Amino acid sequence: MCGIFAYSGQKKSAGDLVIRGLKKLEYRGYDSWGIAYSENQKIGLLRKVGKIGEFDLENTALPQSTLAIGHSRWATHGGVTEENAHPHVDAQKMFAIVHNGIIENYKELRDELQRKGYTFKSETDTETIVHLIADYAKENTFVTATKMAIKRLKGRFAILAIKADEQKIIAARRGSPLILGVGENEFFIASDIPAFINHTKKVMYIDDDEMVVVNEKPHFYNIHSGEEIEKRVVEINWEPQSAEKGAFEHFMIKEIMEQKDTIYRAINQKDSEILHLADEIKKAYGTFLIGCGTAGKVCHAASYLFSKVAKRHVNVIVGSEFPSQQDFLKEKSLVIAVSQSGETADTLEAIEVAKTKGSKVLSIINVEGSSMDRMSDYAIHIKAGPEKAVASTKATTSQLAILTMLAYACDNRLTEGKRLLIDTAGEINDMLNPRYEKHIRALAEKIKDFESMYVIGKAVNYPIALEAAIKLQEVSYIHAEGFAGGELKHGPIALISDGTPCIAIVANDETRTDILNNAMEVKSRGGFIIGVSPQNEDVFDQWIKVPDAGNASPIVNIIPIQLLAYHLAVLRQNNPDMPRNLAKSVTVK
Ligand code: M6R
Repeated sequence: MCGIFAYSGQKKSAGDLVIRGLKKLEYRGYDSWGIAYSENQKIGLLRKVGKIGEFDLENTALPQSTLAIGHSRWATHGGVTEENAHPHVDAQKMFAIVHNGIIENYKELRDELQRKGYTFKSETDTETIVHLIADYAKENTFVTATKMAIKRLKGRFAILAIKADEQKIIAARRGSPLILGVGENEFFIASDIPAFINHTKKVMYIDDDEMVVVNEKPHFYNIHSGEEIEKRVVEINWEPQSAEKGAFEHFMIKEIMEQKDTIYRAINQKDSEILHLADEIKKAYGTFLIGCGTAGKVCHAASYLFSKVAKRHVNVIVGSEFPSQQDFLKEKSLVIAVSQSGETADTLEAIEVAKTKGSKVLSIINVEGSSMDRMSDYAIHIKAGPEKAVASTKATTSQLAILTMLAYACDNRLTEGKRLLIDTAGEINDMLNPRYEKHIRALAEKIKDFESMYVIGKAVNYPIALEAAIKLQEVSYIHAEGFAGGELKHGPIALISDGTPCIAIVANDETRTDILNNAMEVKSRGGFIIGVSPQNEDVFDQWIKVPDAGNASPIVNIIPIQLLAYHLAVLRQNNPDMPRNLAKSVTVK
């Protein structure tokens, strides 16, 4: 949530570089944005409400500066106004701050500063930090004052601070992502690597409770002890173009299409490691699958796979609900955290609890070097490449592939599981052709003006119905709900009226008859049935063909619904990459 980008170096176009970097991070928050730079010994500010993507950088002359920080906001404290947009500055315009996260004790700090005579111009928690630094700086250096201010903050944060008359950026983090990019006599700091990967592939990870002072050479410190920490430079192997849209109109469609090969990449893991992790699952006193949003639905689907394939019970808890169930966690339990970003606050909190209890943690993540990656005992990287559209697509199917593989490995059938997934990947490659997309777009045309739609599924495809509803909600803004087919008659069927679209996910397995009966119940009440299935059925008004993928059916079934959601969004003139009210990475609780 919120994108942060900064530059310090010899180029005088720091403002320009920061705006370009922020544009790449816009998926993290896009209600307002701003940059701060040093200009004639004072801080210069540019802040705007709206999307940074709409800012005409080419025709705007920015002041020359070798240092700038910037922020693209997803509002938490205070409405979407220019005053609340970051960066925030002190009264003398000597210091500027950008911040991602929530300062839990900001009210107490704000009261203290107001008593000392500081006036606040915004409703944000962030502004307290800049006044606090200014206050400590009356008797201390910029670095010491910032250290002192940061020590007083409670909550999760990623912060950058600059001072008008020093060529220095101070960055600190706890629980929110922040990475240092190391170039030739220049540095970049960002919430995410793709934002600076076109400048450098060399990074230094800033860990929780660390602060780094960046001038000619970065110096890392522990926030609490003040001790200096040794850090190494790590080389990233992503290609810059993997974070670009290329010929596609949106990232979402690009990422949907990438599923032609992301499944192969996901399952390309060392057998010995997968078998070792399967052993950890078998040995554990309770396995807890934890994720949020789409990742939570993946966990839910995986619980059916573990039950069916490996006859093994696993618990599923969404990240935000985990605190109420943490007492079930034992020292020998295993937490499997599933996350694209590796930065989701609710999932991170669950990992923290697991660690305090002594439980082991396995993370299944896309972003290498993310907080979850570094906090976990074991990690499986799904290797899907940067996922930039807010709606998760390729990461979802890759996570499903990994968990399917683990379920097979738990039943000593890893080779069989891999074979199934390789075949499925091949089928997806064939399925995602222009004719298929055209068929789905035509369906989207037909249903685009409906206000509500429903998705039903059974067994492992019930969580896929829930995930389908998330996809439709977040980008098309159509009211969509997913149900277990068998549950409809217990209440939700009252929602069906003449022509209401209802997607029935029908796998070619023991659940087929039941879910077809449920679809018939909907049709009898006027529903328009869209079947996602390997074969056409009498009850379908419209058929979306998917390969018959056996236990990999969740992977193939969600893909056409991702496509449908995308085309509905475009036809309804929504931006599928940046849906309203959302942000890619949810780093606040
Ligand atoms: O980065 P994560 O996978 O941990 O993110 C979890 C959810 O915020 C995410 O899946 C969200 O629900 C997506 N926007 C869904 O498309």
